[in-house]
Amino acid sequence: MNAKVTFIKNFQIGDIDRRIFGSFVEHLGRAVYTGIYEPGHPQADDNGFRQDVVELVKELGVSHVRYPGGNFLSGYDWKDGIGPKESRMRRLDLAWKSIESNQVGIDEFYDWSKLVGTFVTAAVNMGTGTPKEAAELMEYCNYPGGTYWSDLRIKNGHHDPMGIKLWCVGNEMDGAWQICHLDADDYGKKALETAKMLKWVDDSVELVVCGSSSSWQPTFPEWDRKVLEYTYDVADYISLHRYYENEGNDDDFLASFVDMEHFIHTISAVCDYVKALKRSTKTMMLSFDEWNVWYQQHQAPHDWMEAPPLIEDRYSLLDALVFAGLGMTLINNCDRVKIACLAQLVNVIAPILTEKDGGAIRQSIFYPFKYLSQYAKGVALKPVIDTPFIETKYGKTPLLHLCATYNEADGEFVVFALNISRVESLTVSLDMQSFGAVKMIEHISLRGADTSAVNTFARPDAVVPIRITPAVASAGVFEVRLEQLSWHVMRFGR
Ligand code: AHR
Repeated sequence: MNAKVTFIKNFQIGDIDRRIFGSFVEHLGRAVYTGIYEPGHPQADDNGFRQDVVELVKELGVSHVRYPGGNFLSGYDWKDGIGPKESRMRRLDLAWKSIESNQVGIDEFYDWSKLVGTFVTAAVNMGTGTPKEAAELMEYCNYPGGTYWSDLRIKNGHHDPMGIKLWCVGNEMDGAWQICHLDADDYGKKALETAKMLKWVDDSVELVVCGSSSSWQPTFPEWDRKVLEYTYDVADYISLHRYYENEGNDDDFLASFVDMEHFIHTISAVCDYVKALKRSTKTMMLSFDEWNVWYQQHQAPHDWMEAPPLIEDRYSLLDALVFAGLGMTLINNCDRVKIACLAQLVNVIAPILTEKDGGAIRQSIFYPFKYLSQYAKGVALKPVIDTPFIETKYGKTPLLHLCATYNEADGEFVVFALNISRVESLTVSLDMQSFGAVKMIEHISLRGADTSAVNTFARPDAVVPIRITPAVASAGVFEVRLEQLSWHVMRFGR
């Protein structure tokens, strides 16, 4: 089968905000304890942070990390996680039925974020938490000094304000599973009052209000409309969450990116409706702050343990291809999606897996994230794509899914392409005449005969990208062959 793509340099979607390459660490399972933090591990530094994990997080290229949850957030008292470690209380975490030792809190996580060269996106509890407690956390983190909470931060080792700029006002408050779940009116009012207080403490911060926790929620998209009607003036972003899993039909699973795009477009439309209603000049942007493949049907309970092995999905090559499709869709919508977080980072539905007292490996999904973060820079282009289609449960689905980016600073132009056909390769002609004389400088591909292959501690390189000989142009047109079920990164330069 054939496909054709034409790129016009000035035909652009928008700037890619680096915050689209965020991730997420929740106090859940082994994400924190025996994930990023394991005192006594041979690779742990003096603060208990595992250096092998630090190196992998740096390699992954994560731009910011949302913390501390997640469902955990809605029962969390941030004050439990500050001060001398020996006097911190062990608590029941009702969200995940675990025991929380509180050995890591905001001070430690802030230090870890510096170690990995990224920044914290903080979150305030809108379940059991009050607007007052949220504002106190803001004062603790961001107020310079001379008040009770800011002076306590200084006493706890952080003389300078943390300067955390992005804050989530709760987590998935539309979900019946959430601790102290609220309906849209109650959340909208609480979020508005909390947001006012947060911005009074520090008017330089940006706030994300809770949108629908999935497009399958019965309250979607009515929830989003109501919440925005309360919070439009104080909010900077509305959140979207979405996870996909293979329910038995590979074509449907591979088409997940189509559903993600519909979700983004629907929420954008809801935002624009409220913008019109409010006669506002502000356009609400989106924070897709939880996305991934997640086999939710396979969860095993481990009740009332400390750092239990919860939702440690093992990702196959097929999962990585679906994941790549989702990441590309975020880039194709970068005019509205300014923030995104791969959920999560270590052990819990994560690109990085660790063993307690042992090693750390890259899962298959590590690679698409790494290459998108590393190379999708500058602006996203809007190519003209002529591709064959298949029918999936999401309707007409292109076999060739593609995104392209151009970074004027280094003159680099990158094409990311996914062939979701399970049976046929695609011969694709890439027409780059509008770029003048360019050559392909690198071609990386993720593919394999066995799409069920997974990386394990015994075989950590079962799924790894390979390098292909770059194609040579003929009159500004490159012809490339994309094998069935393969993902590609093609870099072009002068
Ligand atoms: O990422 C795992 C969980 O998924 C989070 O705690 C929650 O926000 C979502 O339902």
